[in-house]
Amino acid sequence: MNVIVAVDNNWGIGKDGTQNIIIPEDRKYFREKTLGSTIIVGRRTVLDFPGQKPLPGRRNIILSRNPSFSIEGATVASSIDEVFRETAHDENVFVVGGAMVFHLLLNYCDTAYITKFYTTAESDVYFPNLDAMPNWVLRESSDVFESQGITFAYHRYENVSPLRYTQEAR
Ligand SMILES: NC(=O)c1ccc[n+]([C@@H]2O[C@H](COP(=O)([O-])OP(=O)(O)OC[C@H]3O[C@@H](n4cnc5c(N)ncnc54)[C@H](OP(=O)(O)O)[C@@H]3O)[C@@H](O)[C@H]2O)c1
Repeated sequence: MNVIVAVDNNWGIGKDGTQNIIIPEDRKYFREKTLGSTIIVGRRTVLDFPGQKPLPGRRNIILSRNPSFSIEGATVASSIDEVFRETAHDENVFVVGGAMVFHLLLNYCDTAYITKFYTTAESDVYFPNLDAMPNWVLRESSDVFESQGITFAYHRYENVSPLRYTQEAR
């Protein structure tokens, strides 16, 4: 299981239900990385997707505890157990947010694709600071790019001791 996220200097990821920084290059990177995969997403983040619809070209699994919640073209999972049951045979799985879902599943992920914006934006939701977590090791960094006055880079971190899913592991 992988995680993909765009963060600012403070690991802030969003404000008022939407992303705090959006640049087209990162959107393209996200699309290219996740196309053809299964994505796991929280119900609140789906509200911020274009047309509040599942992302095309990917299997969308939406986490929600609301039994009457459904969206055409997506699978709804009401628990972490259901997420792992649903994805047991899927080859490429990406956790795509938001904050609650990242916190729920981060420890089960092997790889984190982090777009780092070298700026600080107002945020009310945060991703855990991987640089402060000894089990997450920075393995690869791109060059530093610039778009719309924002410098950014793509980083790949590896979790050297991921949790393996069992019901007891929770
Ligand atoms: N920068 C980035 O790369 C990035 C990426 C994605 C999102 N974001 C940002 O993150 C923010 C949204 O994050 P968020 O934390 O507010 O919401 P979220 O994680 O997108 O969704 C939270 C919802 O997921 C469901 N959920 C959470 N844990 C669950 C569990 N254990 N079992 C079943 N369902 C569960 C609940 O839905 P119900 O209430 O329906 O039960 C909960 O309200 C937005 O600002 C968004 O823009 C940023």
